[in-house]
Amino acid sequence: MTAVKKSYYIKSRDFIRAGEASIKIQTLLKSLNFDPQLIRRVAICGYEGEMNVVMHGGDGSLSFAINTDELILEISDDGPGIVNIGKAMQAGFSTASDEHREMGFGAGMGLPNMKKNADDIIVESEKGLGTRIRMVFFIDKGGDDG
Ligand SMILES: Nc1ncnc2c1ncn2[C@@H]1O[C@H](COP(=O)(O)OP(=O)(O)OP(=O)(O)O)[C@@H](O)[C@H]1O
Ligand SMILES: [Mg+2]
Repeated sequence: MTAVKKSYYIKSRDFIRAGEASIKIQTLLKSLNFDPQLIRRVAICGYEGEMNVVMHGGDGSLSFAINTDELILEISDDGPGIVNIGKAMQAGFSTASDEHREMGFGAGMGLPNMKKNADDIIVESEKGLGTRIRMVFFIDKGGDDG
C-alpha cells in the first residue's frame, strides 16, 4: 500500500534550487518520525541524484513514495543519458567539467554513494533519452514494541 506520494520537478543546471526536493523529503520523513539513520540515507541518495540531474542530466523529477514496508525514491531526467553505466557506478569516475569541479563536485562518488546507502538500486539509461534511478529503502520496524 502506498500511504504517501510526492513528486518534485528538477531543473537542469539550476544550482540555486538544487537539493530542495531532497530537503522536502527529509523534512517530511522527520515529521513522520522515521529513524534518523534511514532519513539520512534517503537524504544522501536524494541529494546526489538531484545534483546529477542538475549537473549532467536534463530537466527531470524526483518522486518519492512511502509504502508499508519500504520507501521508494525515483529520480529521472530527459538528458543525454549515461554512456557507460558500469563505469559511472565506479568510485572516482566522473565527466564533471572544470566549472563543476571548481564548485566542489566531480569526485565521482555520487552514484557509488547512492548504491551504498540504498537497500536496492536500479539504474536505467538510454543514450539521448535520459536516465532513471530507482532506489528502495526497507523500513525496519525495529523490535521492542512490535
Ligand atoms: N543523470 C545523469 N545523466 C547523465 N550522466 C550522468 C547522470 N548521472 C551521472 N552521470 C554520469 O555518471 C558519472 C558519475 O556520476 P557520480 O555522481 O558518481 O559522479 P559525479 O557527479 O561526476 O561527481 P560527484 O557526484 O562526486 O560530485 C558522471 O560524471 C556522469 O558522467
Ligand atoms: Mg554526482
